[in-house]
Amino acid sequence: MKITAVLLAAGYGTRMKSEYPKVMHPLMGRPMIDWAMRAVESLVDAPPIVVVGHGQELVRSYLRDRAVYAEQQELLGTGHAVLQALPSVAQDADAVIVTYADMPLLTQATLRRLLDLYRTHASSPTLAIAMLTVKRENPQGFGRIVRRSDGSVAAIVEETDCTPEQLAIQELNPGVYCFHAAWLRQNLPYIPRSAKGEYYLTDLVSMAASQGRQIVTLEAPLEDVYGVNNRVHLAEAEAILRRRILERHMLEGVTIVDPFSTYIEDTVQIGADTTIWPGCLLQGATVIGRHCTIGPYSQIIDTQIADHCRVVYSVLEQARMDQGSEIGPFSHLRKGAHLGENVHMGNFGEVKDSYLGPGVKMGHFSYIGNAEVGANVNIGAGTITCNYDGVHKSKTIIGDHAFIGSDTMLVAPVVVGEFARTGAGSVVTRDIPAHATAYGVPARVHKVEDRTPPQGGAEE
Ligand code: UD1
Ligand code: CA
Repeated sequence: MKITAVLLAAGYGTRMKSEYPKVMHPLMGRPMIDWAMRAVESLVDAPPIVVVGHGQELVRSYLRDRAVYAEQQELLGTGHAVLQALPSVAQDADAVIVTYADMPLLTQATLRRLLDLYRTHASSPTLAIAMLTVKRENPQGFGRIVRRSDGSVAAIVEETDCTPEQLAIQELNPGVYCFHAAWLRQNLPYIPRSAKGEYYLTDLVSMAASQGRQIVTLEAPLEDVYGVNNRVHLAEAEAILRRRILERHMLEGVTIVDPFSTYIEDTVQIGADTTIWPGCLLQGATVIGRHCTIGPYSQIIDTQIADHCRVVYSVLEQARMDQGSEIGPFSHLRKGAHLGENVHMGNFGEVKDSYLGPGVKMGHFSYIGNAEVGANVNIGAGTITCNYDGVHKSKTIIGDHAFIGSDTMLVAPVVVGEFARTGAGSVVTRDIPAHATAYGVPARVHKVEDRTPPQGGAEE
């Protein structure tokens, strides 16, 4: 069965009080329309047709060739909107799904069930529409589903057109349909203009009913069809999406101590037996291994963290931590920071575009930028790589086992050899050979002694 999807996104979204189109407002790090798109994309082969109008430039430049666009120049109602998409519906399509871009909580699973319902009835020559319904005690704002005494659907009546009895109906129209494509093509142009001057897509239901065509329904979970119209709704939708993501991780073995204060974007991966303490934001392409402790209060963006790592009150961005490394409290990994295995980075440290080799200790108040630091180096409190002279960024290289004394300024470009040492308060402007001790301002080499530890065991 060939299916085309149509997503309506031309509305003004006036109640958002925004200069941006409603469907471009972000939810868990992605525009609202991205969630709606992903729900339908999983069910169709061809790119969905998005009906755009208000603010369409932003929608188009975000979705690009993920969608085919139909422009609705005048907002004359949902029926008119789908009519604009009709020319883009593939000639050989069997069915057309129609849904709204401002319904970001609609799941793939619910849409799939609607399609299954359609397929189950597809052999019937009279099938015209499969649609979702929803039940709610407060029906306000929805079109009411009106049924005949035999239970079949007779019409959807918009709230403004309801009789007092119809207003009491609690079976409602969320606006998600799967139409028989040929039937839709034949009938869509004949929707009458309403008293308000609009063309209601919902009128297709009474048209189908009066032609004796079949309309089948499926009750959707209320949460799925949550429509976002203002920023209060936006926050509520985000809370639901956030909870769904957190639940997925918890069910896969991640401990989330306080789901209410934890924000994890859909794109993030986390290994089992990792614990997330309160107040964490995990974003973008972040991948966290197993047995890690993250938080409390940390923000981690586009960062890879291997197994057995620990992050406390810190901010990490486009960085990498190898197995067993730890950071915090109050430290910052910036773009290109890479902590090797078992690195210990304590409080008030910042690392950017640098590699810290395995076992490096950097306990307090240091800045390391554009540096390559060998294994087991000790970086004393207050060490700074002076990597920028106002024009160029220069590199600092520190060999394995070097000991950088407290408050050392490493004026790059500079190389500190392996097993070398600097005295407290040194300003290092020239390279220091391996095994040398240098101190002073500017630092001079005072002593060279072989610090290679004696090799244990028999050697050949
Ligand atoms: C519509 C339904 C109503 C249903 C409700 C559920 C109709 C006539 N009524 O009412 O039965 O209960 O949704 O939320 O369909 N849009 C366009 N172009 C237009 C008009 C709307 O693209 O000319 C888009 C909007 O951007 C929005 C969606 O269609 O995403 C729904 O439009 P809206 O005006 O909110 O419809 P309702 O009056 O709420
Ligand atoms: Ca609406």
